[in-house]
Amino acid sequence: MQVVETVAQVRDQLARWRQQGQSIALVPTMGNLHDGHMSLVDRAGELADRVCATIFVNPSQFGPGEDFEQYPRTPEHDMALLSEGGCDLLLTPSVAEMYPTGQDNSTRVRVPGSDQGLCDASRPGHFDGVATVVTALLNIFQPHVAIFGEKDFQQLMVIRRLVKDLHLPVTIVGSPTVREASGLAVSSRNRYLDEDQKQRAAAIYAALCAVRDGVQAGHPQDDVSTGAWRSMQAAGLEPEYLELRRTLDLAPASPEDLELVVLTAARMGGTRLIDNLSFPRTP
Ligand code: PAJ
Repeated sequence: MQVVETVAQVRDQLARWRQQGQSIALVPTMGNLHDGHMSLVDRAGELADRVCATIFVNPSQFGPGEDFEQYPRTPEHDMALLSEGGCDLLLTPSVAEMYPTGQDNSTRVRVPGSDQGLCDASRPGHFDGVATVVTALLNIFQPHVAIFGEKDFQQLMVIRRLVKDLHLPVTIVGSPTVREASGLAVSSRNRYLDEDQKQRAAAIYAALCAVRDGVQAGHPQDDVSTGAWRSMQAAGLEPEYLELRRTLDLAPASPEDLELVVLTAARMGGTRLIDNLSFPRTP
């Protein structure tokens, strides 16, 4: 695996691979890699001849008081995993390399509809930061395909939308959420939890499953949501939102909508965790 820090180095290498007719897949990450990230790398390997990844803790998607400074950075561990996982090229750029005119001064990409009362509500500007950096990464690599996790469902929708609106010549592939045996979605932020908190945080997935089962059984949506909310609280979680939406555009689900997703964010101690579950209205 080649590890490079500049856009110019990426372009050089990719030009050679393209000349040889090889297809390119991209997996953007913020590092501290785990099984969830590696499932995207595996998928990338199935979809293209060359697998590229990025590790960049993107400052513009963190709000004031969020965990940008303390976000886990584990470069040695990450490189070992990527190398074993069949990654061919890794970009680990500096902030100055990614934002050549300065982070506060640079062009921003804003995707409409990122104000849906989900993660956007408590993280203003977050999805602008994600959209901006992902647009830049897609331009740097110009991959045939880029893989993102369904774990960050609203993020995946934002990325699909920007690719459509800006006519970017790339296929976006969503990949299923990897979970611990308990059901807890694997996440870099799980490392902020102690063992007991981790056990209790499994109530998030249980709550999502309860909403799915309740809706599929035809129970009133409000009752189902209230029960699931309370079960998270009983486990020591502080839910921020628990919303049933339609998968098409994340609008609130109405009885005619058949493809649904229940999304939640909840705090365990100081740690904010998100998860979601897609399902059809009938089992
Ligand atoms: P990060 O949180 O590092 O996640 C990188 C990719 O891994 C995202 O596409 C995310 O959805 C996916 N992922 C995380 N946990 C997963 C899990 N348990 N199962 C499957 N996929 C999972 O998301 C970001 O970074 C950033 O916002 C980024 C897109 C890189 C832009 O900065």
